[in-house]
Amino acid sequence: MKVWAVANQKGGVGKTTTAVSLAGLLSNRGRRVLVVDLDPHGSLTSYFGLDPESIEPSVYDLFKNRGDRDAVLPVLRETNIEGLSVLPASTALATLDRQLGTRSGMGLVVQRSMAAVADRFDYAFIDCPRCWGC
Ligand SMILES: Nc1ncnc2c1ncn2[C@@H]1O[C@H](COP(=O)(O)OP(=O)(O)OP(=O)(O)O)[C@@H](O)[C@H]1O
Ligand SMILES: [Mg+2]
Repeated sequence: MKVWAVANQKGGVGKTTTAVSLAGLLSNRGRRVLVVDLDPHGSLTSYFGLDPESIEPSVYDLFKNRGDRDAVLPVLRETNIEGLSVLPASTALATLDRQLGTRSGMGLVVQRSMAAVADRFDYAFIDCPRCWGC
């Protein structure tokens, strides 16, 4: 699985649109594609008709479980586009720093989670939040 992170310090510059567009194009070409929403606003999650205010489990649970392999599959959802799945964000992600920021092992959560689904997808696109501290 090839993993692409779509990131930029600025807000509103097309990160989510880029992730959705590339993922859609590749799934249309028959590739198995995963999109990962790391933004507490959950705009990518909403794009696929899911509600970041109420969705459970979500990417937040991946962090809660330190990227444990068994925790990833329950978070995975198929979209209405064939071959395209999503790991959705919930607004709880906004509390991540405060709730779990000081726990050890948090730096490898995304890497571990991607490794857990690497044999299921050809590509993964990670939609990153804007850099609030920049
Ligand atoms: N190539 C483009 N041309 C014109 N408009 C675009 C393009 N890409 C994105 N937009 C529009 O720009 C706005 C912001 O796009 P998007 O939400 O993808 O940005 P973002 O970087 O993910 O924002 P945020 O930092 O808030 O997550 C949206 O209204 C989107 O429709
Ligand atoms: Mg975005």
